[in-house]
Amino acid sequence: MEKEKPESHRVSVSGDVEVSAYLEIAKGRVGEQPLAEPEEKLGAEREAVVIIDFGSQYSWLIARRVRECRVYCEVMHHDAPWERVASLRPKGFILSGGPSSVYEPGAPQAPAYVYESRLPVLGICYGMQVMAHQLGGKVAKGVKREYGLAVLHQNSVSSPLFEGLPPEMPVWMSHCDRIEEMPPGFVSLAYTENSPVAAMGNDQGLIGLQFHPEVVHTPQGKAILQNFLYKICGCSGNWTPGSFVAESIERVKEQVGTGRVICALSGGVDSAVTATLIHRAVGDQLTCIFVNTGLLRREEVERTINTFQRNMKMNLVYVDASERFLERLKGVIDPEEKRHIIGEEFVRVFEEEAAKIGQVDFLAQGTLYPDVIESAFSGNRAVATIKTHHNVGGLPSKMKLTLVEPLRYLFKDEVREVGLALGLSEEMVYRQPFPGPGLAIRIIGEVTKERLEILRAADWIVMNEIKKAKLYRQLWQSFAVLTPVRSVGVMGDFRTYGYMVAIRAVTSEDAMTADWARLPYEVLARISNRIVNEVPEVNRVVYDISSKPPSTIEWE
Ligand code: XMP
Repeated sequence: MEKEKPESHRVSVSGDVEVSAYLEIAKGRVGEQPLAEPEEKLGAEREAVVIIDFGSQYSWLIARRVRECRVYCEVMHHDAPWERVASLRPKGFILSGGPSSVYEPGAPQAPAYVYESRLPVLGICYGMQVMAHQLGGKVAKGVKREYGLAVLHQNSVSSPLFEGLPPEMPVWMSHCDRIEEMPPGFVSLAYTENSPVAAMGNDQGLIGLQFHPEVVHTPQGKAILQNFLYKICGCSGNWTPGSFVAESIERVKEQVGTGRVICALSGGVDSAVTATLIHRAVGDQLTCIFVNTGLLRREEVERTINTFQRNMKMNLVYVDASERFLERLKGVIDPEEKRHIIGEEFVRVFEEEAAKIGQVDFLAQGTLYPDVIESAFSGNRAVATIKTHHNVGGLPSKMKLTLVEPLRYLFKDEVREVGLALGLSEEMVYRQPFPGPGLAIRIIGEVTKERLEILRAADWIVMNEIKKAKLYRQLWQSFAVLTPVRSVGVMGDFRTYGYMVAIRAVTSEDAMTADWARLPYEVLARISNRIVNEVPEVNRVVYDISSKPPSTIEWE
């Protein structure tokens, strides 16, 4: 079910204008890589579960569901060493699904420590089969592939796994192999039409599920996972944004000591939350650098300065480099060249400003868990993300900076929750993603001061109307694009010859695929009407009704 991620020439970012994007674009300037910190020590009271990944497309989802149950978890490769796992002091294991068949040579196995630890284990699909295989049961190819919805019938054996749940429930299946013989000591907890052993367990807390509790098509799936976590592993669900904040502050303090930290602020969620967290921990030892590329949206600069300097009283170095960027973009039409120039110039400005600060020891980055997970494993996905993950390579090679990445184990929605817990405004926390190269890739053709002003005015209206219609949060992105097309119009008694602006509004989960948003006609009408009335250079507005793929979200 995993969608193929299309190859892209674009810079991959986790969601918003992160400085990482710029740094990565500046490919020519690969400096010394700061070493990532070793795996962090964990607070005594944090309850954790380890998900052993066998390459399933759903491993992520399992992690998200577990986190939704307020239990901390990490996804680890099936050959992760015990030391890494032990540092989390897990209260249980979850074995993910995977594409292999346990009876084939070379099929991945669960590490011995999973069973030797005597902790509860939940095997899901391949995870169940591997458990059966390793513990002396028998797995064989099913007569037919079972894919899609099935009805799960509980057996009369009572198990805390199904506590509070109905005797029959719909579940999502996706497997070819099945359990022919359970390992000694196991009993069947439930069956479906095609799987006599759709769930099995023993009295040591080892459980196997043939179906996928992590997908939405298994409506009671989260309750099943929660039962495993709470009733079998003994977790209490105390991992909350508040506890994360408190714990992270302690860790940052410990890591940074009396050192100095710099952080590039972009106005995006990830860097905002990172900076706020670090500021809470080490106060004035943090200096944020905010580069105005001149390619930002209206009021963006003022808002960022207000939030971080005036309200939060952070050390903020604000650099207005807009003229420099404009100068370098003069006459440039090719989108990739625009990106490259912007990335390179950004690094230069950042370097110059960082050098003025003097001795700096740490670089704070808003790396998120998806970047970490993807760069750690998962085949070809790794390639794209290693780049994002190592993008600090563009930083000054003379500066030996150690990374501080307080969000590296969080998903985007958790970052938002943490942002709110830190007192950041909803407006900041629920901001739509904005590309690193900014408005430059929404002006088709040459970027000039005049065109930037036109686009800013049109974009402002789009944002305004989308917010007024209460659609802002439902949309992945909504913005205006300034095309170089000019067309004839008529206003009053006058013929006009103006620019054409395109409106782009999309829904998406992860920006890899997107659908054009079915905006209400009235909203489109208001946007169009206001743009042609309030932006004199524009006399025509069109709505982009293409999805991704084959189109991209941005026009360049
Ligand atoms: P596309 O246009 O490729 O965009 O469908 C997917 C997501 O990535 C953002 N995007 C960028 N972000 N630097 C960035 O930081 C870039 O060069 C860039 N190009 C696209 C885009 O806004 C969307 O969220």
